[in-house]
Amino acid sequence: MPTVIVTGLPGVGKTTVLEALKGVSERGGLSISVVNFGTVMSEILRKRGMALDRDDIRRQDMALQREVQEEAAREISGMKGDGVLIVDTHMFVKTDSGFWPGLPINVLSKLSPSLLVLIEAPPEEIANRRRSDKSRRRDEASRALIEQELDWSRFLAAACSVMTGAPVKIISNEPGKHLEAAEELFGIISRMVR
Ligand code: AP5
Repeated sequence: MPTVIVTGLPGVGKTTVLEALKGVSERGGLSISVVNFGTVMSEILRKRGMALDRDDIRRQDMALQREVQEEAAREISGMKGDGVLIVDTHMFVKTDSGFWPGLPINVLSKLSPSLLVLIEAPPEEIANRRRSDKSRRRDEASRALIEQELDWSRFLAAACSVMTGAPVKIISNEPGKHLEAAEELFGIISRMVR
């Protein structure tokens, strides 16, 4: 069964949409499993004796992040099974050294996706969600910076699409409409597998 990579800027609500997708898929009789790339990286780091908060991973030394990123991709590629595997991750990670690709060629070739999804929301809304989510230490950003990040995500998605041959679908997660976004995603995946 195919692998679908779902990405979105921090705070856009991709994890919320994917939680809703689980319920929609269950009702629609489609077997899916969702794996969060950051969680797999955290677990790898924890086993190495580095119990880091997920918001601290992007602040680590680049060599370490690269190594753990590749190990996570290897681990996730071993999770492919009978259902659709959804990988919750990022087109890029904002590190101290700059925008770093979440899906460089060594990662993409292991995940081998059939579909790339970008979850988007209005820039002002992303800024508000980041500010109001007190459970996390997200980087705050101005509307202009978020617009730049949305553009950068699309550029990287285009590059990933050329490298894999997988199409890119953009889904908007409008205020209060995460269920609608999940249903749209479900429709695309259903058509792909049936
Ligand atoms: P990750 O776990 O993906 O953290 P994140 O970037 O902060 O993303 P989240 O999943 O927490 O945010 P989200 O956009 O899904 O928003 P949420 O649903 O919570 O990654 C952690 C770290 O792992 C990264 O920083 C990086 O270091 C590392 N990593 C991951 N992938 C990597 C890769 N490929 N390579 C290297 N490193 C990698 O929603 C946010 C808020 O909005 C919530 O309060 C929610 O209730 C609200 N909300 C959501 N939808 C709506 C809506 N429609 N209307 C109103 N409110 C909404």
